[in-house]
Amino acid sequence: MNILLLGSGGREHALAWKLAQSPSVEKFYASPGNPGIAEHAICVNLDVSDHGSVILFCARNDIDMVVVGPEAPLVDGLAESLRMAEIFVFGPDKAPAQLEGSKGFTKDLCARADIPTAGYVRTTNQAEALAALDKFSIPVVIKADGLAAGKGVIIAETREQAEDAIAMMFDGGFGDAGAEVVIEEFLTGEEASFFAITDGKNVLPFGSAQDHKRVGEGDTGPNTGGMGAYSPAPVLTPALQKQVMDQIIQPTVDTLAAEGTPYSGVLFAGLMLTDTGPQLIEYNARFGDPECQVLMMRLQSDLAAIMLATAKGELDQISAPEFDQQSALTVVMAAKGYPATPEKGGKIRNLSGAESEGVKIFHAGTAEDDGALIANGGRVLNVTALGSNTTEAQGKAYAAVDKIDFETGFCRRDIGWREVAREAEG
Ligand code: AMP
Ligand code: GLY
Repeated sequence: MNILLLGSGGREHALAWKLAQSPSVEKFYASPGNPGIAEHAICVNLDVSDHGSVILFCARNDIDMVVVGPEAPLVDGLAESLRMAEIFVFGPDKAPAQLEGSKGFTKDLCARADIPTAGYVRTTNQAEALAALDKFSIPVVIKADGLAAGKGVIIAETREQAEDAIAMMFDGGFGDAGAEVVIEEFLTGEEASFFAITDGKNVLPFGSAQDHKRVGEGDTGPNTGGMGAYSPAPVLTPALQKQVMDQIIQPTVDTLAAEGTPYSGVLFAGLMLTDTGPQLIEYNARFGDPECQVLMMRLQSDLAAIMLATAKGELDQISAPEFDQQSALTVVMAAKGYPATPEKGGKIRNLSGAESEGVKIFHAGTAEDDGALIANGGRVLNVTALGSNTTEAQGKAYAAVDKIDFETGFCRRDIGWREVAREAEG
């Protein structure tokens, strides 16, 4: 089969690396790709906002399946346009992609399907939001409804902060994403991520992970896209995973199907493990970055076959995806200045010397300059390792980090700390 993969980050390098291992993959294109992806696929430059040009590329190059990495083209309806052109695609249509595109949409769906989630109110102007605030205790969570590159959530520790956040969002602080604002009850507990793939009818669990969103050690400093992750997340015990499947994932899939907007692709659930059980914090309509890197490191099944079965609505005809029992951990190496203004152009050397059996380095924001590898984004490399547990995977990942020559880069040294501490306690 011929595949076109869309995206350019570490998530897409991990997907490309795994897809390239599939015996069924013949011609393999990526757009725009990156130097790591270019080791597996022919990189081309398509304008994903021009659906017609993507469809034309697929027709000319006999593409059998398109894999959409990031959320923006999904929320923009690219998957739907491709499906209408009779091209198989891994990723949901526009309406069900609203699970990621609109926080209010997801909250309303949870209310209709009785899915455990924080209490909320949707508001469309400042006066309404300020009035609604009275119904909540402090701390309270203020969220821009739309896509805000992971930045649209403010946890207000005082009423004043909540009012400021509301004013900022309705003043356009997050652009159109803040035209609607969701006010939410603050939940406490440990966060974990759970993945499931679905063709709209059939659902298969696809692993768990935990990430580190803050830029600094000890989970301090500004939020980022994610500074590291590990999989599995043992806090999501088999019993909790069953509860998440039964109470959150399955009702979501069933409700969307019943309403005539079936969801096809991967569902990425951000969960809060509260005293009263797992609650849904948010959905994403794609794999996490860097969660995908640790999932791909552990996946033993044929990814292309799983994705094609998903796209065709035939997930009931394949066996459940198998994962290595080992743990995988990834450390993000970012360019100095990230997440504010990352320094571009820094030289990167000795990636091949740092890789070994069970250690893989995925490219995120890299570029080639005169044959040399340079930093070209905020998150630059994902140094990923397998180990018998999180502690061993962490040791192997940092040993590899220490072999990489990347003067303008930095990373957190404590990725996996929660699980490493639990493993030390035994
Ligand atoms: P989101 O973009 O919805 O994932 O939110 C970003 C982060 O904000 C989450 O990973 C949580 O740490 C936090 N958060 C979001 N909603 C809540 C909530 N209702 N209670 C507590 N923390 C939350
Ligand atoms: N790492 C979090 C995300 O991909 O949304």
